[in-house]
Amino acid sequence: MTRFAPAARLRGELRPPPDKSISHRAAILAAMGEGETRVEGYLDSADTRSTLAAVAAVGAEVAIAAGEAGLEARIGGVGLRGPRPAEIDVGNAGTLLRILPGWLAGQGAGEWVLDGDDSIRRRPVDRIAVPLRAMGAAVECREARLPPLRVTGSALTGTEHRLAVASAQVKSCLLLAGLLAEGETTVIEPSPSRDHSERMLAAAGARLHRADTAVTIEPASELRLGEVAVPGDFSSAAFWIVAATLAGDSEVRLRGVNLNETRTGLLPILERMGAAVEAEPGGTSGGEPAGDVVARHGPLRSTLVRGEEVPRAIDELPLVGLAACFAEGDTRVVDAAELRHKESDRIAATVGVLNALGGDAEELEDGFVVRGTGGLRGGAIDSGGDHRVAMLGAIAGLASREGAEVRGMEAAAVSYPGFERDLAGLL
Ligand code: S3P
Repeated sequence: MTRFAPAARLRGELRPPPDKSISHRAAILAAMGEGETRVEGYLDSADTRSTLAAVAAVGAEVAIAAGEAGLEARIGGVGLRGPRPAEIDVGNAGTLLRILPGWLAGQGAGEWVLDGDDSIRRRPVDRIAVPLRAMGAAVECREARLPPLRVTGSALTGTEHRLAVASAQVKSCLLLAGLLAEGETTVIEPSPSRDHSERMLAAAGARLHRADTAVTIEPASELRLGEVAVPGDFSSAAFWIVAATLAGDSEVRLRGVNLNETRTGLLPILERMGAAVEAEPGGTSGGEPAGDVVARHGPLRSTLVRGEEVPRAIDELPLVGLAACFAEGDTRVVDAAELRHKESDRIAATVGVLNALGGDAEELEDGFVVRGTGGLRGGAIDSGGDHRVAMLGAIAGLASREGAEVRGMEAAAVSYPGFERDLAGLL
């Protein structure tokens, strides 16, 4: 059990860890590429270490050293058609599990098996298996939808895919498959999800065309990434943004954060709730907009989150639920059934955490309702092994009247190994 006592204030500035989504993509595209790629500020976390191990397993040469922020990774690519057959342990990394098979499925021969921890074995992969099969891929999963996932390299044909739910993981998987297919591959989403893959693929020389929520990729003979500098992770910064908003007399500056609008949906939500949050754009890093975010304590009112806003804030919706406990009125988050398929069922987990700490929250099939009661009492919660639930509990404890005990805090290392050290710096 780790205890998080009520914080009178959080003050200061910090650089959140490098972005997890961009780190995964940098390792995968580097492995697919020609020559060496240097990734500056590769996230040093359990999930992104799994990706380095995975690309090494298919033959990429991986060398890492401690960098200024995160790791400096040098990855020697095997080329688009060069991965060797392997059994791959994805650990807890759903993004790795869902993106990598796109590349492997289009190899003319070879077999790969992807498996992971208990949480991974509950996460659906039919969302990639079904559209990959429509391109001609040979993909098998357990009980038709769960890992382990067995991919046998085949010849693929470019196809148009209409996704029922916006998903950057599925979109990215299909775009990688499209590089190896015959003819063009198009992915159409109901609303835009994070576009890190599109940006990085274009930087590596892939030809893609984007129109509204559709992206089309042409087959390629090679990719070359060269250098990538990974900006700070907005989803990690989000914990401090919400902590500063809720805990008395706080002001926190998050430096060097990725400000890609497909990721920062939390900011307009908090602004609507009346929070004092400001983004200060400051150039680009690795083809992505980056800058500072400043958050100050202030009163909140309730809001409604739905539709297009959901994919842009998907990993931050539990934090919206936490903020809603402190707001005046009832906050509803809907159209977010996807939350049930994250590292845990994050609708059940969010409602469970908030109620265990004295909140008044209720599950909906596709989201939750939180009745603002002006604050939280505190208490004890269990992360259930989900990194974002562990950190949600910690931030809730800081903002509560009595503090919170979090069981399973070590799960935070999946995306944010220095979380407790960074907290100490702000206290
Ligand atoms: C991610 C996409 C999102 C997100 C996950 C990371 C990515 O999942 O929840 O944490 O890096 O592509 P979906 O694409 O399934 O919505």
